[in-house]
Amino acid sequence: MSENGFLEDAARAAHWIASYRENVHDLPVLPRVRPGDVAAGLPEEPPEKPEPLESVLADLDDVIVPGLTHWNHPGFFAYFCSSTTDAGVLAEFLAAELNQNAMLWRTSPAGTELEQRMVEWVRRFVGLPDAFDGLILDTASSSSFTALLAAREQAVPDVRQRGLAGRSDVGPCVLYISEEAHSSLDKSALAAGFGLDHVRHVPVDERLRMLPAALEEAISADRAAGLTPVMVCATIGTTSTTSVDPVREVSEICERTGVWLHVDAAYAGPAAALPEKRGEFEGWERADSIVLNPHKWMSTPIDCSVLLFRNDAAMRRPLSLTPEYLRSTEDGQNLMDIGLSLGRRFRALKLWFQFRMEGAEGMRARLRTHIALADQLAGWIEEDPRFEVAAPHPFSLVVFRAVPPGDADPDDWNQTLLEAVNRDGRVFLSHTTVDGRYAIRLAVGSARGTEQAVQEAWSLLTGEYDRMAAG
Ligand SMILES: Cc1ncc(COP(=O)(O)O)c(C=O)c1O
Repeated sequence: MSENGFLEDAARAAHWIASYRENVHDLPVLPRVRPGDVAAGLPEEPPEKPEPLESVLADLDDVIVPGLTHWNHPGFFAYFCSSTTDAGVLAEFLAAELNQNAMLWRTSPAGTELEQRMVEWVRRFVGLPDAFDGLILDTASSSSFTALLAAREQAVPDVRQRGLAGRSDVGPCVLYISEEAHSSLDKSALAAGFGLDHVRHVPVDERLRMLPAALEEAISADRAAGLTPVMVCATIGTTSTTSVDPVREVSEICERTGVWLHVDAAYAGPAAALPEKRGEFEGWERADSIVLNPHKWMSTPIDCSVLLFRNDAAMRRPLSLTPEYLRSTEDGQNLMDIGLSLGRRFRALKLWFQFRMEGAEGMRARLRTHIALADQLAGWIEEDPRFEVAAPHPFSLVVFRAVPPGDADPDDWNQTLLEAVNRDGRVFLSHTTVDGRYAIRLAVGSARGTEQAVQEAWSLLTGEYDRMAAG
């Protein structure tokens, strides 16, 4: 393709994006397709001949868009919202062209050093001390897994060489998380060979926070039984309700017992940039490692997960391995030494664009808007006898449930209500259970979100409630 042809096609793609943005709020957030519908619209064989971009874009509209869940829709309130801003979209476009793979310093000096500086910017943004170093991985799942391997190496020093199988000198490795922790931690333990029998789900208090006394007891009991406590993961902003584990107390236990402390702040981490929210993060500066995901609440396009850690050498030990063909002589850092993947995307570019084009000020303002909208919604719920707030809401997620009329089963009622609201198409909310009872989650977090969308969600919930109550 000629340069002119590229410019025309790039303009076509940019126009497509602009028109998608303008019209996305008219599309149903959740697509109305059944499994197999999208695949049925795609030929089984790849095309033999090249096709012009126009026909590919036409199929994007006809075949793909009807099967998309619109994460950038202002009515997307499910899970933890992951949306994008101009800065992120433009940086991804450019990153594709630059096609950097910063596995070694020499394979991308700028990719390596920009990544290191962006990790530093994120660290400063959230107010963590200089002692933290870090890198960017794809997801919180990868970040926590990488931290777990470093923790295992610390607890079982020669595991890298000897492995774990058949050893009489090392008891089974154990991971400690709360009952509310994200399943990615259980998965990390699976992948690291701990076995699910060796993941302790420490009970929580009435505010869904890990009970430190129960944690300490579990660690002591395991040590006494010859097991090997490896890592505690405390969560700031759990997935289900955004509860906050008492990190300071947990860190003291970890220090006393010599167990690695990892903090999962995948969603809530960016809120540490707000002085009024710093209290929720008390003690996280004492962690050995921390994960936070710009691709959740910093509106960076997926994927972008920042893993911060104190001890660089400990992070390198589990997986650094340099075959001859990757040997290089420069002093620069080789990011391939930490984590499983060798090749790595140029994720730092989108963080750089975002910090430059929005400023830390703009990012803080967005977080505050989301928190204010969530507080406003919680206020409406508290004032309405048809609904109740089901858990504390320190950030931008509100968990609540309808109080059904008469003696209807509350779980069934709430599930039916949620399904009806989601069927409408203007919003998408998700659910959880709190103390074993069904509850609805509304997470404000879209960079494209507006007060109007939250109001719309509330009027759909109340309207649907009344319709159901009227039978
Ligand atoms: C608290 C928490 N930790 C970890 C994860 C996993 O994130 P990822 O999809 O980046 O692996 C999530 C996902 O929502 C989460 O809420």
